[in-house]
Amino acid sequence: MKAIKADLLDFPKQPQWGETADSEARWRPAHWLLLDDKGRIAAIQQHDPPEGVTREDHTGRLLLPGFIDTHVHSPQLPVMASYGTELLDWLNTYTFPSETAWQDEAVAQHGTALFLDALLAHGTTAAVVFPTVHKTSAEALFAEATRRGMRVIGGKVLMDRHAPDGLRDDVRGAERDCRDLIERWHGQGRNAYAVTVRFAPTSTPEQLAMAGALCKADPTLYMQTHVAENRDEVRWVAELFPAARSYLDVYARAGLLHERSVLAHGIWLDAEDRARLYASGAHVAHCPTSNLFLGSGLFDWRATSPAAVSMATDVGGGTSLSMVRTLAAAYTVQALQGQRLTAWSALHTTTRGAAEALHLQHEIGALEPGLMADFCLWDWSVGPVDAQRQRRAQSLHEKVFAWMTLADERHLAATWVAGTPRYTRRTA
Ligand code: GUN
Ligand code: ZN
Repeated sequence: MKAIKADLLDFPKQPQWGETADSEARWRPAHWLLLDDKGRIAAIQQHDPPEGVTREDHTGRLLLPGFIDTHVHSPQLPVMASYGTELLDWLNTYTFPSETAWQDEAVAQHGTALFLDALLAHGTTAAVVFPTVHKTSAEALFAEATRRGMRVIGGKVLMDRHAPDGLRDDVRGAERDCRDLIERWHGQGRNAYAVTVRFAPTSTPEQLAMAGALCKADPTLYMQTHVAENRDEVRWVAELFPAARSYLDVYARAGLLHERSVLAHGIWLDAEDRARLYASGAHVAHCPTSNLFLGSGLFDWRATSPAAVSMATDVGGGTSLSMVRTLAAAYTVQALQGQRLTAWSALHTTTRGAAEALHLQHEIGALEPGLMADFCLWDWSVGPVDAQRQRRAQSLHEKVFAWMTLADERHLAATWVAGTPRYTRRTA
């Protein structure tokens, strides 16, 4: 048994939009988090743990559940911060050429290890991940995540057209690879398989139908894709699929819209799409830094809810693996539309909210006995500028909001996954 003392913050229920009252958060300062030997939270208490329990006292540090990044690309660290393009040119100029390198198994393996370690060093303990079209890239994802004890959802990317040589599959080969990967990894340890359609333009209708059939055959599978991210992309999808009512409808017709579907972006959906999204139980992974960087558009959160919205970095379209920086960008995106994102809604979305959207609330997203001990220890400030801002904060919301807006991965002191420290900052 181990015990960590810190200032615990989490969100057992969804905060009300725009409500900054302290009651929207569960704040337990100077509490002990007790961990059992199976990597779970055993208890949370104010009084000291019994003799013989190994203790770490981090009083004065913020302890949050590990962040859940619901849309990120493991092979795209090398294309972050690529200059001058919108989505379709960005894919062709930078991203597709870079992803072809992952046909080399050793490159994929090394890149995946780097990627997962980087997630941990940014405070992310669970992620929904796109690797590449190559089967081995998904193998590497699951194997390396298992080594680190992390919760991952992912799958080999499906793309059988409109992509360069070395980055295309075909319907039958892809189906075989998916079936093999599902059998080997789905539900094994903390891994789950997601049928991974890159986006409608890179799959033939036959491949979309195959993907839909996989989902239908096993409702415990996830599905991940991109939808309605960029206006040129939306126009192209309308040309490629003239019979569909909308971009979302392409997926719905193929049987790809269900309660385990994670749809990245969703900026250019209309009211009918949003209603359909809600009715299906699917949810949108909002990717604010990516949407700003690629000039894709401003996601209308209020119009999209009550469909669930989770938060994602979308690296390499996104500009940081930090969910904290992503939340600061999310606030900006809402502010540009006359809305305000509270720290409570923001942090709920990246923890419990994402866990619920993924049907994983029994495992991750909160600080409760029985859940996995995936959590991070954060400093409130790392220098005189944000230290001064913290001293001025009056309410808890003001303090946490200032932290959310000014902090980044330098504020992360340690990341624990399944009761084991997996990242510790070198300097104090
Ligand atoms: N649409 C299709 N592929 C991608 C990708 O890799 N990143 C983003 N942001 N959008 C996409
Ligand atoms: Zn993406």
